[in-house]
Amino acid sequence: MELRKVAITGVHGYVPDYILTNKELETMVDTSDEWIRTRTGVEERHILKEPGKATSDMGMHAVKGLLEKTNTPASEIDLLICATVTPDTIFPDTANTICHKAGLNKAWGFDINAACSGFLFALSTGSLFIQAGRYNKIVVVGADKMSSIVDYEDRTTCVIFGDGGGAVLLEAANEGFGLEDFVFKGDGSGREFLHMKAGGSLKPPSHETVDNKEHYVFQEGRSVFKAAIKGMTETIKEVMSRNSLSPDDIQWVVPHQANKRIIDGVANMLDFDHSKVMMNINKYGNTTAATLPLCLWDYESQLQKGDGLILTAFGGGFTWGSTYLTWAY
Ligand code: UT7
Repeated sequence: MELRKVAITGVHGYVPDYILTNKELETMVDTSDEWIRTRTGVEERHILKEPGKATSDMGMHAVKGLLEKTNTPASEIDLLICATVTPDTIFPDTANTICHKAGLNKAWGFDINAACSGFLFALSTGSLFIQAGRYNKIVVVGADKMSSIVDYEDRTTCVIFGDGGGAVLLEAANEGFGLEDFVFKGDGSGREFLHMKAGGSLKPPSHETVDNKEHYVFQEGRSVFKAAIKGMTETIKEVMSRNSLSPDDIQWVVPHQANKRIIDGVANMLDFDHSKVMMNINKYGNTTAATLPLCLWDYESQLQKGDGLILTAFGGGFTWGSTYLTWAY
C-alpha cells in the first residue's frame, strides 16, 4: 500500500475574552506578579467565565474559524479528533459535541486524553487516516478549560494555567512538505506527580472527595519540571538523529508552554537559538492540549513553506514526545 504524505494546511485558535492578570491573582492567593513572571514567564491568562460554556465551545470557535479561513465546507471534514483533559462531560466525548456545534455533519470524532502531549498524539493519529488513503480532510483540536479543574486557593497551580483551544486542518500533501516523523513516550509511573485524585472510576465523586478538593489538578512541580526538560530534550534529539537533522535544519521549535524556564532549559540543552523557539506563555499561560496549536496560530504569519519545525510536549501520565514536520504553506 502506498502511503500518502500528510500536511497541516491551516491553523486557527480561540481564547476567551476574560483576562486574568497576575495583579488580580495577587488579590486571590499569596503570590506576586514578580514571582509568577520570573518563575514561570506567565503575565496573564484567558479564562472562560461565561456560565454554561465549556471546552467544546472553545473548540467550536477554533474549528469554525479554521474552516472559514481555509475555505473548507464543513461537509468535507471526515473526522475530528479532540485532545483534552477537561472534556465537557466524562462521556460523551467532546469531539462529537464540537462536530455538532460547528456543523460538521458528516464527521465522526473521538477524544484523546494525553494531557499536555494530547495535541501531538492526536496530530499523528489523525494523519495516519489520511496517510492510509482512508480520509482526505481531518480536523485536530487541542482545547482545555483548565479553570474548571484548578483550585484558585492553591498558589502552586492556579498561577500557571489558562483556557483556550486551537485547531489544525490535515490534508494529503501536494508538494512533499508535511508530517515527517515522531517519537512518543509514556511512563505510567509518573502519574503520581501530576493528576486529579478523584472523579474517575478509581475514586468516584463523593461529598468527601469534594471537601478534600480532590477534583483539582495536583502537581508536584519540581519533579515534573525536571522530567519535562529531560523528556523533551531526549525526544527532540532522537527525532533529529533519526532524520539526520542538525539545528540549522530546524527553523522553529514549538514547545509545550508549561514554564518559560523549562522552554529555555530545553533550548539551551540543544543549542537552539532562542529566537527560533516559539513562546506565548506570557499571554496564555499553560493551556494544556491547546498550547501547541495556539503557538502555530500566533506564529503562522512568520512560517514559510519548507520550514523545518519540531513540536515537543511533556505532560501528565507521564506522556511526552516530539514531532518533526516541514511546513506546507
Ligand atoms: O504542563 C504539564 C507539565 N507541567 C509542568 O511542566 C510544570 C512543571 N513545574 C513548574 O513549572 C514549576 O515547578 C512550578 C512553576 C510549578 C513551581 O516553580 P518552582 O520554581 O519549581 O517552585 P517550587 O515548587 O520549588 O517552590 C519554590 C517556593 C516555595 O516556597 P519555599 O518552600 O521555598 O518557601 C513555594 O511555596 O516558591 C513558593 N511558591 C510560590 N510563591 C509565590 C510556589 N508557588 C508560588 C506562587 N507565588 N504562586
